[in-house]
Amino acid sequence: MAQYRRVSGSVGLITLQNPPVNALSASVRQGIVDSVKRALGDQKVKSVVICGQNGVFCGGADIREFGRQMSGPPLVPMIHDIEAANKPVVAAIEGSALGGGLELALGCHYRISHSKAKLGLPEVTLGLLPAAGGTQRLPRLIGVPAALNLITTGRHVTAAEALQLGILDHVTEHNTVDVAVKFALSVTGESLDGRRISSFSCAPLSDLDSLFEEAMLKVRGAARGAIAPVACVQAVRAAATLPYAQGMEREKELMATLFHSGQARALQYFFFAQRAVGRWSTPSGARWDTSQPRPVRKAAVIGLGTMGRGITVALAQAGLSVVAVETHAKQLMEAKKAVPSMLKRGAVRGGTTIEPDSITYSETVQAVADVDLVIEAVFEDMALKEKVFQQLSIVCKPDTLLCTNTSSLDVDHLASQTRHPELVVGMHFFAPAHVMKLLEVVYGRRSSPAAVATAMQLGKKMGKVSVAVGNCRGFAGNRMLKRYLEQAFFLLEEGATPELVDRALEEFGFPMGVFRMSDLSGLDVGWRVRKADGLADTSLTGTSARVRQGCRYSPLGDLLCEHGRFGQKTGRGWYQYDKPGGRVAKSDPWLHNFLDEYRARHGLVPRCIDQQEVLERCLFVLINEGFQILEEGIAAGPEDIDAIYVFGYGWPRHRGGPMFYADMVGLERVVERLERYHQAHPNVPYLQPSGLLRRLVANGSPPIHKWRNVIKNRNSQL
Ligand code: NAI
Repeated sequence: MAQYRRVSGSVGLITLQNPPVNALSASVRQGIVDSVKRALGDQKVKSVVICGQNGVFCGGADIREFGRQMSGPPLVPMIHDIEAANKPVVAAIEGSALGGGLELALGCHYRISHSKAKLGLPEVTLGLLPAAGGTQRLPRLIGVPAALNLITTGRHVTAAEALQLGILDHVTEHNTVDVAVKFALSVTGESLDGRRISSFSCAPLSDLDSLFEEAMLKVRGAARGAIAPVACVQAVRAAATLPYAQGMEREKELMATLFHSGQARALQYFFFAQRAVGRWSTPSGARWDTSQPRPVRKAAVIGLGTMGRGITVALAQAGLSVVAVETHAKQLMEAKKAVPSMLKRGAVRGGTTIEPDSITYSETVQAVADVDLVIEAVFEDMALKEKVFQQLSIVCKPDTLLCTNTSSLDVDHLASQTRHPELVVGMHFFAPAHVMKLLEVVYGRRSSPAAVATAMQLGKKMGKVSVAVGNCRGFAGNRMLKRYLEQAFFLLEEGATPELVDRALEEFGFPMGVFRMSDLSGLDVGWRVRKADGLADTSLTGTSARVRQGCRYSPLGDLLCEHGRFGQKTGRGWYQYDKPGGRVAKSDPWLHNFLDEYRARHGLVPRCIDQQEVLERCLFVLINEGFQILEEGIAAGPEDIDAIYVFGYGWPRHRGGPMFYADMVGLERVVERLERYHQAHPNVPYLQPSGLLRRLVANGSPPIHKWRNVIKNRNSQL
């Protein structure tokens, strides 16, 4: 709702009241409409101020109302009536003015903001556009290029930037409502002709066509296949080329298309999914709201290779003091140069300064004696990690949390090497660790609730999306990825090319297809793991060359590594690059010959493979593994898996994550396709639909938010 009162004799003060962010729910809109009417009808009121209670102007639409029957007064005429008022209306912005909140402010004649406020039109991030006149008023106020930038990215701006852009009339350090009321008194009776943004024309630009073409290319490149940013460009184009009323019609049409699209549903699901992962729980009953995290002020990183350096930077950026340990002198020397320059680059990006002396370097593990938490990032070698954990257990304080960044090794086994296994958890970062948002927090059988809570909270402090997962080979993300990679290799054996597979995945929305991605991360990484597992034996001939433990296996990746093709780092992989370290992938005739010879050698007759098969084989098998992970309780809910895939593996956000995608496609269809592919490839057991997936279908394919119940019911029956 909204509260109305008269202040300073002649100012009608309207206060939005809907905690926590004064979202524009039906009752708030009704409150505004009623209050504006009262203010305009009251002879004693000469001007109006609109503000929000508890230091927040307005966080925008109430997204819980999306998808429900629309009730209460609509936003567009409400804002129109404010703008058309014959008494000056001033927006007093504190905290934030986002989405519909900023659109409301744009309908006011003046905008005054506190210096700490944030403003923005983030609708695009929910698959929508600012459809209460935002796409029509903002370009008229601040010009087309700046409006395009804000509307297509959804980024928030500070009050200082908003003032510079021309969104605000005044920024204050003092009580914003008091300043706004004084200001409202000062403009009483002044003409409002030049204050109604809808009557402005956009500032003329010399080459409008190329500006919009460029904008379109940019948004298409940034989020492949996402329709909301494209619609945002089209709406701003309407502002630049059509009269206001027609532009509003166009805005409405475009919004209608977006509102009913699967992408808006996916993005809104994902908005809530991100919050859900913070409310973690483990099968043993530990929970986010009953587990107390420990304070962590000083942390250590062991091993300053690729990952250790990034983790050191991320810890320092989070304000911790860090002891960085590296036993190899040359590596230590390189890290001492690399870490400060990574910090400097991060500071330029984030506008922060980090004291370089918050990091101390050491060649010995004795230096970590007084830290609260250690993150181990030495080579992926169990014997070495065992030794490191034994040492840490002796050197550290008895209550120090010992974490491992292993990407696949057994966290329980590492815990068993220490005196306090309850203080051991996995903190699985993704490369580059100071940039990538995802952190898998891996709890072991004996990890204490406090240890999990501490790692989760530290992740959050480091700006990560922390997802709690159980201990199994590859945890959640890499375990699912393994199935996806296998299918991609099998498709090559059956007649596909890396180009065809990558194109299908990139058109789906991944920033990089599986082969381009493997070339970037290095083919040797997986090869080393397969060798350690006794899989990468290319001396085998005949049918046994392509079978391991009774299941289909493709040695293609191993063969490429034997040819020294490790991807970008060697200038050759699934593609060729102009030099080692080159970034532009080019089709490689050598690779195509190699695939032809390989197929001929194994009697494989290449067939025509279409995009649909690529997507179904690669994605449905990954999804199937996701269901298996849910069934085993490795992830607590589908939101956890979706957050892992969007933040760690480039799954397009506008498709909501793999589990949401399965829900969209229809679980029955996923089962039917998996069964079909399993019939065609009986020696690939992972194509068989998982028990949970079948059970969900048997339960009438409930929507994704009800899956947890089906999982819970099953577990309570066991
Ligand atoms: P790396 O080979 O770049 O670095 C390992 C570093 O540990 C080397 O500098 C080595 O000298 C140092 N080291 C070895 N023994 C040591 C000891 N006893 N004390 C101190 N330092 C020691 O390896 P990378 O890629 O950084 O991987 C480290 C860990 O992170 C592995 O467990 C890996 O599986 C995991 N990981 C790697 C990812 C990646 O993309 N590279 C992603 C996520 C996890």
